[in-house]
Amino acid sequence: MLYRRMGRTGLQLSALSLGSWVTFGKQVDDADSDRLMSLAYDAGVNFFDNAEVYSRGESELMMGRVLKTKSWDRSSYTVSSKAFFGWRGPENKPNQHGLSRKHLMEACHEALQRLQLEYLDLYFCHRPDKNVPIEEVVRTMNTLIQQGKILYWGTSEWSAAEIMEAHMVARQLGLEGPAVEQPEYNLFRRQKMEVDYAPIFRNVGMGTTIWSPLASGLLTGKYNNGIPEESRLALEGFEWLKDKTLSEEKLNRVRSLEAVAQKLNTSLATLSIAWCLSNPNVSTVILGATKESQLTENLKALDLLPQLTPEVKIEIDTIMGTQPTLPEY
Ligand SMILES: NC(=O)c1ccc[n+]([C@@H]2O[C@H](COP(=O)([O-])OP(=O)(O)OC[C@H]3O[C@@H](n4cnc5c(N)ncnc54)[C@H](OP(=O)(O)O)[C@@H]3O)[C@@H](O)[C@H]2O)c1
Repeated sequence: MLYRRMGRTGLQLSALSLGSWVTFGKQVDDADSDRLMSLAYDAGVNFFDNAEVYSRGESELMMGRVLKTKSWDRSSYTVSSKAFFGWRGPENKPNQHGLSRKHLMEACHEALQRLQLEYLDLYFCHRPDKNVPIEEVVRTMNTLIQQGKILYWGTSEWSAAEIMEAHMVARQLGLEGPAVEQPEYNLFRRQKMEVDYAPIFRNVGMGTTIWSPLASGLLTGKYNNGIPEESRLALEGFEWLKDKTLSEEKLNRVRSLEAVAQKLNTSLATLSIAWCLSNPNVSTVILGATKESQLTENLKALDLLPQLTPEVKIEIDTIMGTQPTLPEY
């Protein structure tokens, strides 16, 4: 396993990590999640990603039960949670979601209970909240750090301007700004990581735990000939994700990318994850998997990484046509 520093912090994250969105509590049971987490941990993965909203709290409960049965040193792995959406779905009352001090504190306590942990290594504001002053968010996250309930705080899907505002407020108050952001990053979604955040990487430093490296499976080629029955995009309740993810135009690019994977003697999944890893501003790529075979295939991305030469990356860019235009500085 390769370990990367999380931005300018001293924390070392495994370059590949494991998340639980959609899978834990919906597609996999305790025994499956135990096998997936064990496979990951044995391969050197030291970061497990979670959130209050995943399967409405059930994902944290499941991860907590698995961790409880392990004899892994708490110091050998890191766990995250995220607050914003709440976990009660449509029954969320006004203070049961968002980034107010009340919800951030309560959501943290609830996550710790569900995960059966004494502290979270990473705690994310899952989305920006336009109804809460940024100072309230910064102060609350710092209180949680001082209370020893979280070690680092971060953002997820915040704009560069919102992240910089948090840093400016933190600096004025002598507090810690967000150390890490969790954005979507894959061969279809590049703007934030490659353009918007560039000044933050350069001037402030920021770790990234990037999500959906396979665009929910699209970049494995599994949807090239229709929607397999037991796949994420066939799940009831995820029609919105299917509509967002699948289009003939995207599928055609994935079909063309197959040629590069074949040339490198690898799979589309392994290639697409290695491509994410090839961006040095990625601290860790969060993998998702419903089967051990998928995870094994995805973990091979580390071995493929040295083969992603500038020439190969240009070939990928030409096929995908998704490279964002860089602003002139
Ligand atoms: N902060 C945020 O807003 C946010 C949002 C989304 C995700 N996340 C985090 O990022 C993690 C990863 O995201 P993701 O699950 O969307 O990642 P992804 O890699 O884009 O999709 C993972 C899914 O693709 C399929 N798959 C994976 N490897 C495969 C392979 N080798 N062959 C065939 N199918 C394969 C599996 O689904 P099926 O088997 O069901 O088809 C798997 O569950 C999440 O678990 C979560 O922790 C964060």
